[in-house]
Amino acid sequence: MTVRRRRVAILISGRGSNMAALIEAARAVDYPAEIVLVLSNRPNAAGLAHAEAAGIPARALDHEAFPDRERFDAALDAALRAAGIDLVCLAGFMRIFSAGFVEAWAGRMLNIHPSLLPLFRGTRTHAQALAAGVRLHGCTVHYVVPELDAGPIVAQAAVPVRPGDDAGTLAARVIVQEHRLYPAALALVAGGRARLDGERVVFDATVAGVDGALLSV
Ligand code: GRF
Repeated sequence: MTVRRRRVAILISGRGSNMAALIEAARAVDYPAEIVLVLSNRPNAAGLAHAEAAGIPARALDHEAFPDRERFDAALDAALRAAGIDLVCLAGFMRIFSAGFVEAWAGRMLNIHPSLLPLFRGTRTHAQALAAGVRLHGCTVHYVVPELDAGPIVAQAAVPVRPGDDAGTLAARVIVQEHRLYPAALALVAGGRARLDGERVVFDATVAGVDGALLSV
């Protein structure tokens, strides 16, 4: 059965390395999603040029040009609708949404966070992990809900915390896994193999076979 590829927009604020990983993965003909739009709330985000070079329509929607959060979110919403977007992927998007925007895209918006949620929400997650002394750290792809860095978990990847690590060495180990995890998680969601069931994500029977791709140490 041929399933229509889901139309995905990626929202960024900076470097865009996760965006690049998603764009690369979606080049495969059998990938269940296509990246059709990249939007940044910061005009100088390095990821915009990368997306353009990859042939993806990319533009900035400068939040500073809007009088308040609601009007910025309304413009974002309009841009996503105009492009016929099915799914939104946040990839280093450093902007909190209004409740109305999150509601409008509920069940259709994913985020990647650089910790094993529910541990270490917010920023400086690698420093938080080191301060807590955990021996495992990692990253999480989750559905976006109004509460920050919460929401049903689609997939996680774990890395060891090594003696002598600092936030930089730990971040470098985690980002490698982010670049594997986000494309794998988006494929599960876009392909209908992972879906929301209330406050949890449930998987179809085929997903058991790819456990190794979803959790690695
Ligand atoms: C990543 O670590 C992501 O998990 C976090 O912000 C960072 C963005 O990096 N939300 P990049 O822009 O994808 O390179």
